[in-house]
Amino acid sequence: MALVTKAIKGTQDLLPNESYKNRYVEQTMLDIASKFGYKEIRTPVFEYTELFSRGVGDTTDVVQKEMYTFDDKGGRSITLRPEGTAGAMRAFLEHGLFNEPLPQKVSYLTSCYRYEKPQAGRLREFHQFGVECLGTAAPAADAELISLAHEIFSHLGVEGLRLEINSIGCPTCRKKYHEALHSYFESKKADLCETCLDRLGRNPMRILDCKSPVCSEIAKDAPKVLDYICEDCSAHFEVVKKHLDAMNIPYVVNPTIVRGLDYYTRTVFEFVSEQIGAQGTVCGGGRYDGLAEQLGGNSTPSLGFALGIERLMLLMQAQNTPLPEEEKPDLYIASMGEEATVLAAKLAASLREEGISVQYDVAGRSVKAQMKFANKLGVRNTVVIGDSEIESGKVTVKDMNGGESVEMELDGFEDSYQSYLIQSAVAEIAGTDGIDMSGINLADLF
Ligand code: HAM
Repeated sequence: MALVTKAIKGTQDLLPNESYKNRYVEQTMLDIASKFGYKEIRTPVFEYTELFSRGVGDTTDVVQKEMYTFDDKGGRSITLRPEGTAGAMRAFLEHGLFNEPLPQKVSYLTSCYRYEKPQAGRLREFHQFGVECLGTAAPAADAELISLAHEIFSHLGVEGLRLEINSIGCPTCRKKYHEALHSYFESKKADLCETCLDRLGRNPMRILDCKSPVCSEIAKDAPKVLDYICEDCSAHFEVVKKHLDAMNIPYVVNPTIVRGLDYYTRTVFEFVSEQIGAQGTVCGGGRYDGLAEQLGGNSTPSLGFALGIERLMLLMQAQNTPLPEEEKPDLYIASMGEEATVLAAKLAASLREEGISVQYDVAGRSVKAQMKFANKLGVRNTVVIGDSEIESGKVTVKDMNGGESVEMELDGFEDSYQSYLIQSAVAEIAGTDGIDMSGINLADLF
């Protein structure tokens, strides 16, 4: 029988030697968002298909070509979420969060699924960090949202991202724009792909993000939405820019950004990199003032963005962005014989309760092999417990980075080891900062 050892095309494993980096990046994003008032929301990985066809829009590439849709055993059409906004808005409406103080600010870390052609930075299962700010129409919210993404990138030390912004207007001014687009594309009809011919009748704006080379060439000379937006939308956009200027956030206005999802209105934006190949949009978002109504709720002007974790990690790798070192185990207790291993287990349990990371032998290895293993783990300290240590009631804590070894009583080892850790930490600080420790009695500190 053939081994099942290959992951599905377009999916990725995140192995233990890498996962701590993602964990750090994700936690940093959640923490920064929390300072802006965002609280985490978790929604199901699958939803009724209708949520996305109505929310994201049934003329979008995502809905037409990329969704993982299937009938469940009850015959209902179900879709794996291709993005996080529709689910967050559904939850907001379903649970009456509109009755809470507005705006409701929610953040999420989710896996998303799109049946796209895999390439660098484009996967079929990928992960997004996203935020949604539900229930505000004010342009200050647009700028604050953009400043959150900006803050995340600067905090992580990511450089060279270009912030591109645009306004794609409201349904009123969109009508005029659609007419202009329609007549432009009507004149190029002979060269458009099948899907775009269908879009021409239903939503000509979607032709602008068609991936076929011929259609995208035609789209380059299409009328630009910014030339068609109404006075209100224009005024809104001006205030957004004013806030960004005041916050010293550099941006360029790119009138060709329309975003690939139908729910957007007014401000849209992307953070783009030139360093990770064709899939350079690391983060994208904007307003979606009509989505709540499209899903059957009351008018709830809202906005948000999502940031692709895999693309961000690719970029950080390309830039060699410094990341904190992976946490190493603090102590390895090597043991010889059963009695010693039981004692190691007991000591490890109480030290772990105190928040210290400890490992001991759970593979029945020789002491030599255990020490080799501990070395590979990169532990800071080791102790060996064998018959003679049990007999004498004493063990020696060995500093694996070449520091002094310290003898400790087995009786009360947990307390002694903790004190030793604190003393080492204090000594380290004193060493680096040149603090005079001579008059300090360490025992008074604990
Ligand atoms: P989106 O532009 O479709 O927007 O996706 C946001 C980000 O997810 C992209 O900028 C990219 O970094 C990442 N991404 C998208 N597709 C893939 C893929 N196939 N493989 C790897 N990464 C990918 C949205 O999803 C909106 N829901 C964003 C939003 C939130 N707008 C308002 N609120």
